[in-house]
Amino acid sequence: MGGNKEAKTQHKRLTPYPVFVFFFCSFLLLKPVKLNARQDDVEEDNDEYHPVNDIYQTAFWIYDCYLTPAQQARLGDGSHGIMRNLTKYRNRRNGPGFAHAVDEFNKVIKELKANGEITKNAKHLRHPTYDLTCHILYQVYSRTVAHQADALNNYQAFSNYVYGEINASLVNEFIAKTNITSKSVFMDLGCGIGNVVLQVAAQTGCESYGIEIMETPCKYAKRQLKEYATRMKAWSLPTGKVHFRHGDFLDTAANDMYTTMTRADVLLVNNYAFDATTNHSLAQMFLDLKEGTKIISLKSFVPKHHKINQRTLDMPESILKVEEFEYYSEAVSWTNNSGMYYVSTVDRSRLKPYYDALYSK
Ligand SMILES: *[C@@H]1O[C@H](CO)[C@@H](O)[C@H](O)[C@H]1NC(C)=O
Ligand SMILES: *[C@@H]1O[C@H](CO)[C@@H](O)[C@H](O)[C@H]1NC(C)=O
Ligand SMILES: *[C@@H]1O[C@H](CO)[C@@H](O)[C@H](O)[C@H]1NC(C)=O
Ligand SMILES: *[C@@H]1O[C@H](CO)[C@@H](O)[C@H](O)[C@H]1NC(C)=O
Ligand SMILES: *[C@@H]1O[C@H](CO)[C@@H](O)[C@H](O)[C@H]1NC(C)=O
Repeated sequence: MGGNKEAKTQHKRLTPYPVFVFFFCSFLLLKPVKLNARQDDVEEDNDEYHPVNDIYQTAFWIYDCYLTPAQQARLGDGSHGIMRNLTKYRNRRNGPGFAHAVDEFNKVIKELKANGEITKNAKHLRHPTYDLTCHILYQVYSRTVAHQADALNNYQAFSNYVYGEINASLVNEFIAKTNITSKSVFMDLGCGIGNVVLQVAAQTGCESYGIEIMETPCKYAKRQLKEYATRMKAWSLPTGKVHFRHGDFLDTAANDMYTTMTRADVLLVNNYAFDATTNHSLAQMFLDLKEGTKIISLKSFVPKHHKINQRTLDMPESILKVEEFEYYSEAVSWTNNSGMYYVSTVDRSRLKPYYDALYSK
């Protein structure tokens, strides 16, 4: 299964305190919590799981997203009542006080749940906001991948096998730029551990696919998907239709993803470190894409000097209309600097004048 044994033992599900009942699902802690120990700083280490903070943040998300103002009033707010107690005892690292506040919170939530009010509110939410999505995906990641991240770093630097991550806020921008909705089909070619695929599915409810050639990240993607489905259900949210495949996206005969690709509305290709052959072969496949498909990439598939003429009519570069955008610093895992990304839209109408000229001769 990869990962090291020691880490696994340490993170075994030791439960049972404080169990937090919400919708259909309980929060089980992944490791024993010493609430009085100084170990729950959020800043300490992003890959380390912090159960107290998880519960704390979850309580505030429930409060913000699932309750009406009248229902919120029963829990107080940042300055008084149960919500104030949660913050106060967490900040003071007072275990019993925090646990008591969680109990009080649960009492109110259980009551609202029992009379169907929360489920009614959840229906209005439809898809989670970007922020809530980040929280849920953090829950998913910390339970499936975080403590075994070392196994993922065994890649060959600067090859087709580089494992690179794109920041959730940049993915959020991709969603807006390419207009992904619940009716869209999205696909990530080289999806790694599947974060982008899950984020897009969560935020939009669309069909979302990922294919990954490396075995270990793909295994994690599938694990994340399982946890994601459970979590989304617990939050009463639709999962979208999500699939991961282990395979080579260039191997069109051996994977059913090729068919899916030809009906995709949006493709993501993190081709930052692709070699020339992979880049070229993939570009040839774009000739089979449907009209209007948008391809998001980290390097352009069309050289700036490319010109459409009778000699280049059959090349994939000629059917792509490219727009260039800038991403801010810290948006991608392989560099701290800002950089450019590209959205190419399949547009064959631009070839028509050239074909007309050809046939009118
Ligand atoms: C806040 O915590 C204190 C100490 O546990 C408790 O006495 C008080 O009732 C709590 N307030 C609310 C609104 O639950
Ligand atoms: C996104 O969709 C809306 C409504 O369908 C449309 O008005 C808008 O032009 C689209 N934007 C892009 C970038 O395609
Ligand atoms: C990728 O391939 C296309 C098509 O062969 C080519 O036009 C483009 O310059 C290549 N891009 C890079 C970054 O190698
Ligand atoms: C992603 O971006 C957000 C906001 O732009 C930033 O707070 C966060 O630190 C970034 N994450 C990484 C891993 O760079
Ligand atoms: C990014 O910045 C951090 C701290 O500022 C540094 O530790 C890290 O090595 C940098 N990473 C890259 C890829 O430059």
